[in-house]
Amino acid sequence: MKVTVITAPNIALIKYWGKENEELFIPINSSLSVTLDSKDMSTTTTLSFNETNEDILILNGKQCPLAKRMTNILSWFRGETKETRPILINTQNSFPTAAGLASSSSSYSAFVIALFLLLNPTHPPTLSIEELSFLSTISRQGSGSSCRSMFGGCVEWEKGSSSDSRSSKAVQICTSAALSDLEILVCVVSSAAKSIGSTEGMQKTANDPSLRTLRETNVPPRLEKAKLSILSKDFASLAQITMDECTEFLHCCSTTIPPNGYLSPISTQIIQAVNDFNTINKNLLVFYTFDAGPNAILFTRTGDLLSFLDYFLRKPITNSSTKRTSVQTKDPICSKF
Ligand code: PMV
Repeated sequence: MKVTVITAPNIALIKYWGKENEELFIPINSSLSVTLDSKDMSTTTTLSFNETNEDILILNGKQCPLAKRMTNILSWFRGETKETRPILINTQNSFPTAAGLASSSSSYSAFVIALFLLLNPTHPPTLSIEELSFLSTISRQGSGSSCRSMFGGCVEWEKGSSSDSRSSKAVQICTSAALSDLEILVCVVSSAAKSIGSTEGMQKTANDPSLRTLRETNVPPRLEKAKLSILSKDFASLAQITMDECTEFLHCCSTTIPPNGYLSPISTQIIQAVNDFNTINKNLLVFYTFDAGPNAILFTRTGDLLSFLDYFLRKPITNSSTKRTSVQTKDPICSKF
């Protein structure tokens, strides 16, 4: 039997950046994201039982060693199901891997859902909200942000209790219907793998008492305001909150020792172009965020897309390619055959 699962990466508006409990993968704060449309950016993972005597990972067509977190997740499932046969994991990203475009979020969500279906052969290919929410508590042990790719639309990763792993899970805040007006532009400045991985980068923030206090204090009220802005469709408020959050996140990265500067001069030019466009229009019509890398993710509304693109593409910003996408309508797409 083979199982194939397609999931999409999610982009955090309110970031996960540091763990409160490293062993249980409990974050310092809750986080909030939108899941991108899997038609534009996705991970496709196919699992089957392997004829040889070990688990094998083929990532983007190349055999790679399994990450420790993958083997931990495999061991957990094997403990639950008593299935011992080796597994062949074939996974493909339709966009640059480990380049600050949230590839780990779609990778681990697809892996965990596919594993669940492979090891529960009588389960139908559709999963319930409760099952996806439960699987989010497993996938965040591979990559924290992956728990939010269990759902389409806008998703919160609720921090939960720092001593109860099951309570730290993903919850869908709204489906993509509430975000149907939102246009997302993914500006790929560099597709090179980032030099400092997010695990290492966020540890530095979590270990710095003043940065940690900053996040513990600022994020909870900011996240509540972001949710309200989304639910009330207050674009300007969401824009301000997301850019404030992004500035704080980048500050946390760049003020550690040694500093961890993820932006490139081209990223800064993109920020400038967004600010200039908003200033000319005397309104927050476009906003940006970044993950752990130089690639910018821009958000605007359908009605403002053309005038922004017209302005943006005339700017002499070199070496960046821009792809338009929207919010994912569905939960992960699964098939068994
Ligand atoms: O999921 P991880 O461990 O790769 O960390 C994700 C970190 C950010 O993408 C920068 C923020 C987030 O919440 O997605």
